This record gives sequence, structure tokens and C-alpha cells, in this order.
Amino acid sequence: MSPARSNRSPSREAAPRLKREHYAYLQDLMRRHAGISLEGGKEYLAEARLAALALQLGFGTLRSLMESLQTESERGELHRAVVEALAIAETSFFRDLHPFEALKNVILPEWLSGRTADRCLNIWSAACSSGQEPYSIAMMIRDRYPQLIAGGVRLIASDLSNTMLERARAGVFTKIEINRGLPAPMLVRYFTQTDQNWRIREDLRSMIEFREHNLAASWPSMPFMDVIFLRNVLLYFDAETRRFVLRNIAKCLRPDGYLVLGGGETTLTLDDSYEPVQIDRAVCYRLVPADRARPRKVA
Ligand SMILES: C[S@@+](CC[C@H](N)C(=O)[O-])C[C@H]1O[C@@H](n2cnc3c(N)ncnc32)[C@H](O)[C@@H]1O
Repeated sequence: MSPARSNRSPSREAAPRLKREHYAYLQDLMRRHAGISLEGGKEYLAEARLAALALQLGFGTLRSLMESLQTESERGELHRAVVEALAIAETSFFRDLHPFEALKNVILPEWLSGRTADRCLNIWSAACSSGQEPYSIAMMIRDRYPQLIAGGVRLIASDLSNTMLERARAGVFTKIEINRGLPAPMLVRYFTQTDQNWRIREDLRSMIEFREHNLAASWPSMPFMDVIFLRNVLLYFDAETRRFVLRNIAKCLRPDGYLVLGGGETTLTLDDSYEPVQIDRAVCYRLVPADRARPRKVA
């Protein structure tokens, strides 16, 4: 990355506007690198995020960041930083609550009742952002199913963004993040205060294996999963990427496993190897049993 350093702050630019062709370049970049579809009419969001990135990286103006972006290697750090900056990372502890209740009250008791001695519970939080989702699952398991802690559970959390993964691995959250969804008794039990922030207890942190994984690129081998949380990420993808991701998820979900999507997301019309199951107030997805599955069309 070779920022054209300058003392001028992008915030002092008259109005850090992206040219139309710059936005078109970003739309193409995001689609190819992350499967993310940047809508027309949302230029102001990209402008705000990239102006902050330009400042952080020492570019004098948003325009100079864009010029470097278009001349540097697409495999370089600048492209990576831009993709990460434009991927929405909004998250919170126990976000939307119902999927966590479904996991606690139905999915895990069902799994435990069918458990065999050699079976480990595998849970994957794909697109984990700064970690609130996998930590919510870990805290719930420690509270309700402590018998799973010693070797009985494997919790994997992944994301495209290294910046988010670093934050997730650190397990340090601001007061604002803590105030979004974390029940007070859990704060007391599982966090220690460090200056203005809160740090998750080491035994919780070490329950989670953090990995970099771009869902829209080639897939690494994954253990068979009992539960996959894939929430609030499909909605940013174009239809082709959604199908690609769901097809790959189906290959690593156990036949009796559950896929949990975000509230506004569904497999319907995208992949008929799944069927929805209502669990209390959450809709989860299971693979259609082999004897009812339609042969997959080869694309
Ligand atoms: C809105 S957050 C959702 C976080 C969490 N799952 C939740 O529901 O609170 C979306 C996350 O998806 C990640 N993401 C976007 N595109 C991705 C991709 N192609 N592969 C993996 N992660 C991706 C972003 O970096 C971001 O952290």
C-alpha cells in the first residue's frame, strides 16, 4: 500500500464525493472479492466509510485513496482494507434473541438426547463480525450446558474481515457494545473491566476457534456441523453468491443439523435442499431428508 501522504484531512475536503466511475469500481470490487452487492443510491455510506479509512491510512483525500486503489494490485492490502471497510459489520450480543432461545431450549436438548459418547457438538458462527454472536453462544452453553465444556463442544467463528477477527479474538468490548443485548448477570459472570472497556473471561475466549474465511471464495474443509449461524450476511450478497454459499453450507451441515439465518433471510427460492422449521419464535432450516430430496440440478 503506498498512500500519498498529506497533511490535509479528508474531513476538510469541501465534500468528499465519490465520482460515479469510482462507485462503479467499488461495486465491481465488492462483488468480485466478497460477493457483496453495493446498491445504487447508497454512495453516501461508502463515502463516509472510505473518508474515515483515507484519514486512518494517511491519504490526503478520498480521491487520492481511490486513485491508488485503481492503480495498485488487487491482491494488495489497500484493496483488502477497502473491502473490509465497506462490509457492514453491525452486530450485538444475543441479537434478535429468538435464535439463541431456540438453540438453548430445543436444538441443544434434542442434540443431547441423541448424543453418542464419541460425538462432539460442532457449532459454526459464519460471518461472526466482532464476536458478539459466538460469545453469546459460548456464554449460553456455559450457563446451561456446562457438561459440554470439557471437550464436548467445538465452536468455530469466521469472517472475511481480519479487522473484525482481531477484535473478536481480543474479546474486548466498549460500554456501548456491552449495553446492546448483554444481560447484566452475564456481564458480572463472564467479563472483567479494563479501563473503559470490558474483557471476556479467558476460559470463554479460549472456547472459540477464530478463522478467516471468505464465504464467497473457495471453501476450506470444515468439520460436519450440528448448528450453523449464518446471520445477517446473505442479505448483502447477490443471488448467485447466496446460492453458492447455501450449496456449500449444505455440504458441511449434518443431516440432522440446523442452519440459522438472520430475520430477513431465507433459503426459499434459492436452494430447495433446505426446509424451514419453526422453533418457538425462530425459523431455522434443516436439510430435506434424502428420501424426499429432489435431485440437484447441475448448473
Ligand atoms: C452484519 S454483520 C453480521 C454479524 C453477525 N452474524 C450478526 O448477525 O450479528 C456481517 C458480517 O459479514 C461479514 N462478511 C461480509 N461478506 C463476507 C464474506 N464474503 N465472507 C465472510 N464474511 C463476510 C462482514 O465482515 C461482517 O462482519
